Amino acid sequence: MTIPLVIDTDTAQDDCVAILVGLLTPEADLRGITMVAGNVGFDRQVRNAFMTLNVADRLGEVPIYLGNRQPLVRPWVSAENVHGDGAGGLDMDFSGCEPEAEHAVDALLRMADEAAGELSIVAIGPLTNLAMAVRKRPEFASQVKHLVVMGGSNNARGNITAAAEFNFYVDPEAAKIVFDAGFTITVVPWAPLTLQQAVFGRDVLEQIAGIDTPLARFFTRVCSATLAFDESVGIPGTTHPDSLSAAVLLRPELITRSAQYNVDIETGSELTRGYAAMSWGVHGLAPNATVVEEIDAAGFQKFLLDLLARTTTPPRDLGL
Ligand code: RIB
Ligand code: CA
Repeated sequence: MTIPLVIDTDTAQDDCVAILVGLLTPEADLRGITMVAGNVGFDRQVRNAFMTLNVADRLGEVPIYLGNRQPLVRPWVSAENVHGDGAGGLDMDFSGCEPEAEHAVDALLRMADEAAGELSIVAIGPLTNLAMAVRKRPEFASQVKHLVVMGGSNNARGNITAAAEFNFYVDPEAAKIVFDAGFTITVVPWAPLTLQQAVFGRDVLEQIAGIDTPLARFFTRVCSATLAFDESVGIPGTTHPDSLSAAVLLRPELITRSAQYNVDIETGSELTRGYAAMSWGVHGLAPNATVVEEIDAAGFQKFLLDLLARTTTPPRDLGL
């Protein structure tokens, strides 16, 4: 049985890999990509998504919907210092690559209707589009079968500030709305999970370089900018929280430990803006999310490497 799926993304680096997971995993029925302001310039993100469709030879098959170009109430903050252009300098001929006219928020609501309770969403950027969808139609939360959110840290350090992870920092009001809305949520946090179990070191990156398919070459290029950044801040490789989020939806057996938490987002303080308070049972708060605490890291790595080993024939030259 296939899983009807939307990926809500700020497409750069690991977002590209997450889209590949949605495109190439047999169980996934990727019905749309919705774009949200986040990692790099909005139009650049759209081009990165088209290049990802191209390398998977799915150009023209999966629609891209443009969503919010700004967070709900705050100015956009980018992560261009981390990601560069988000695609390692790759480029292609974009003629005829047009996003849909329908707004991403309307597309999310329509696709939830069409899937009749079966739609899953992997949200790997700031949660602006999803918050807007909930504001427009509060029942949207109960229409979505499963929402996987990459964001926050589970009682551990942030990345854009000491307290906050990037996706929640950029639009904390949106994150708060989404966690209050009643979705069935699984959270893939930045720390400790991603930092401990979803980092690909130089040894793994060499194995990927050795695969030498268009997909593997694409992976190496899009991850190149963040590898330099990550190593400069003491992370021993490239980080893969977004592709892990897509993977745990489609391969839930990769989750080896998780627990129920109450997740709430700080919006009042500048110092701790976007901090995710992940409260476990002892605090007596009603759970609103399952937080992934541990994965089968070797299984995740194998899952991605097997995917990158698939042969595709990209219709447009990417200069790989
Ligand atoms: O903090 C990690 C998140 O922000 C991921 O979604 C990644 O794409 C990023 O920049
Ligand atoms: Ca992302």
